[in-house]
Amino acid sequence: MTNTLLILPGDGIGPEVMAEVTRIIDWFGARRGLRFDVTEDLVGGAAYDVHGVPLADATMAKAQEVDAVLLGAVGGPKYDALDFSVKPERGLLRLRKEMDLFANLRPAQCFDALADFSSLKREVVAGLDIMIVRELTSGVYFGEPRGIFEENGERVGINTQRYTESEIDRVARAAFELARKRGNKVCSMEKANVMESGILWREVVQKVHDESYADVELSHMYADAGGMQLCRWPKQFDVIVTDNLFGDLLSDVAAMLTGSLGMLPSASLGAPMANGRPKALYEPVHGSAPDIAGQGKANPCACVLSFAMALRYSFDQGDEATRLERAVEKVLADGVRTADLMQAEGAKPVTTTGMGDAILAALDAS
Ligand code: NAI
Ligand code: MG
Repeated sequence: MTNTLLILPGDGIGPEVMAEVTRIIDWFGARRGLRFDVTEDLVGGAAYDVHGVPLADATMAKAQEVDAVLLGAVGGPKYDALDFSVKPERGLLRLRKEMDLFANLRPAQCFDALADFSSLKREVVAGLDIMIVRELTSGVYFGEPRGIFEENGERVGINTQRYTESEIDRVARAAFELARKRGNKVCSMEKANVMESGILWREVVQKVHDESYADVELSHMYADAGGMQLCRWPKQFDVIVTDNLFGDLLSDVAAMLTGSLGMLPSASLGAPMANGRPKALYEPVHGSAPDIAGQGKANPCACVLSFAMALRYSFDQGDEATRLERAVEKVLADGVRTADLMQAEGAKPVTTTGMGDAILAALDAS
């Protein structure tokens, strides 16, 4: 099977961090025989400058065809005054919407060398590797009716939590598939004690499990208790699957277990394509960081780890993904640090390119 990849560096530090990933992709081709058919294109402000829109139709069409899209970041002060319809983030929103990316994957991974960055104790987070799967296209952020209405002489604000069986079914499947490529354990979180949508959620997740994924260990937890457990002993989890609202909250909590924004990758997955691979968009959690753009200060690790996720979840190269993650871990253990990572004693400050060099050297030695 060929491996097709669309790279969209975007704006600000996007192209800077993506340049390091491109070198790593080349390394896997030259040294591991893992060839990628790569197309590079524009998104965000960079696309607006050339096409007058933040995502050209041809780019959208390409994104629908490839095995994986890897995006840097979009946006920046230069584009802040633009009309909402052509703002850089609209390019990203269009990708997510038209590819129907319903499962948002937010790993919380804590490399030993960075455990002291966490807001929790070292022993609670060191070596942590969990994955939160958040339903992204439905739930209370989209449900109707919604609005602010007049009722009995005062205003009432209304949102509706709404999930169909098929919406729950497909995100549950995505979570079980991921678990099989990881620790084979899923914990589903909702509030079945007080919400009808929670009762349905629990029932459908259990049914999908029993019918198709009985080999994966499944547990259920109320989402509020889940929040407590994430802070108390996060290593008890492997994959957590939850709805849009709870996932929004829990993934932000989980992010803080691990420290720097410059280290956090993400992915958004959609339905399986004809070749069995899911539609997929990989991107760092951080934005275009205009305050440090063009200065060689950006930490490329979040984008590099996003590519590692692509290796594992789109290209079935779990061992090579681990190789890349181990290389990043080794570099951090050696004290190599971009400016965003606190300068501890004995730390070796490097630029964006310096971090890329160090990761490539660690890969060479792997
Ligand atoms: P941001 O994530 O770009 O930056 C927040 C802070 O973290 C800044 O101080 C930045 O220097 C630092 N930072 C972020 N990534 C870093 C990295 N890889 N290495 C070192 N330091 C890093 O968020 P902010 O400042 O709120 O937004 C800036 C622009 O990015 C805005 O135009 C915003 O709309 C856009 N944005 C785009 C996103 C995307 O493309 N998915 C997500 C978030 C924001
Ligand atoms: Mg949030």
